[in-house]
Amino acid sequence: MERTFVMVKPDGVQRGLVGEIIGRFEKKGLRIVGMKCLVPSRALAESHYAVHKGKPFYEPVVEFITSGPVVAMCLEGPDGTIEMVRLMMGKTSPLEAAPGTIRGDFANTTQQNLIHGSDGPETAAVEIALWFRPDELL
Ligand code: TYD
Ligand code: MG
Repeated sequence: MERTFVMVKPDGVQRGLVGEIIGRFEKKGLRIVGMKCLVPSRALAESHYAVHKGKPFYEPVVEFITSGPVVAMCLEGPDGTIEMVRLMMGKTSPLEAAPGTIRGDFANTTQQNLIHGSDGPETAAVEIALWFRPDELL
C-alpha cells in the first residue's frame, strides 16, 4: 500500500469543489485515512513549500495557501497511488492539464490550481508528517 498527501486549496474550497474532488478519489477506490479542514499558518505553508523558497512564485503561493480554509487529506491505495493521484490532478499549468483531470476540468490559472498532491514517496512521507499527527491517521 502507498500513502500520499492531498490538499484542496483555498480556491477549491471557496468554489465548492471539495465534494467533486474528493469524490473522484473515492470513486477511484482510494481510502481516506486522514482528513481535516484548516486555515494553514504561515509557518506551515512555508514548510510545505520550502522546496520552492527563492523562486518568484514562492511568496505568492504561500500567501495564497494561507488565504482561507483548505481540506488536507491523507489518501491510501495500492503501490503507485502517489503517481496515480498526480495523473488525476493534471499538470501544474492549466494550459498543460489535460481535460478529464481535476485541474484540466476546473482550473484556469497556474497559481489557483485547486489541488496539491505529493510528487513522490519521499515528499509524501514528509508532507504527511508535516500536516498530520500520527494519531490523526487511521
Ligand atoms: P509545483 O510544485 O511546481 O507544482 P505542483 O503543485 O503541480 O506540484 O509548484 C507548487 C505550486 O506553486 C503550484 O501548484 C502553483 C504555484 N506555482 C505558480 O504559481 N507558478 C509557477 O510557475 C509554478 C511552477 C508554480
Ligand atoms: Mg509540487
